[in-house]
Amino acid sequence: MIRKECGKSGAAGLMTEILQDGKLEIENQAALDVERVLISENEIVERVGELARMIEADYKNSGNKLVLLGILKGSVVFMAELMKQIRLPVEIDFMKVSSYGGGTTSTGNVEIKLDIRRRDIETSDILIVEDIIDSGRTLSYLVDYLKLRGAASVRTVTLLDKPSRRTVDFEPDYRGFEIPDEFVVGYGLDFDEKYRALPFVGVLKHKVYEK
Ligand code: PRP
Repeated sequence: MIRKECGKSGAAGLMTEILQDGKLEIENQAALDVERVLISENEIVERVGELARMIEADYKNSGNKLVLLGILKGSVVFMAELMKQIRLPVEIDFMKVSSYGGGTTSTGNVEIKLDIRRRDIETSDILIVEDIIDSGRTLSYLVDYLKLRGAASVRTVTLLDKPSRRTVDFEPDYRGFEIPDEFVVGYGLDFDEKYRALPFVGVLKHKVYEK
């Protein structure tokens, strides 16, 4: 751990507190593209603990296998924290999907790029793990899909939720934070594949995506 004064507050200042030697330069540059920290790492870890307690209470007497199903790529950082904090046996799996713009129904807007492959899906409680819900199309589609595949149960957990952006009627079972309609990055979320490694959720500066 090193500390280096850069004379700035906000995201850049925070980064100087937490970065290891090797990542400092690269990550500081990423943090400088962030207008402000929306949710700090401490807040996220604390909230994930609360979600984990709810999940434990709901699944502890299930009798089925609990499978955390991360939706690539944005979910990976949240998923890693969540699986550490759930004090029940869990297995993990991943799917990758891409969704198309337009339309107001879930069906037909989502394409599966990487499917779940389990022989035991009928005795698995699938908890889909997402970084963010926007229109709701991805999760709406996946819940229906996994039910059709015969999962014992299907629920959803998301770190972030932007309810103001919904185009389909969808509510997650567990939600970390409801956020306003701003361009957020970090903690798994990207812009043009960058910023996923930032350890907090921040609002990206307009000039970065309006170039
Ligand atoms: C994001 C996010 C969800 C989806 C949510 O993924 O991780 O999967 O969009 O949007 P929706 O509610 O409108 O369906 P993205 O396509 O950006 O891919 P990524 O996770 O690989 O960044």
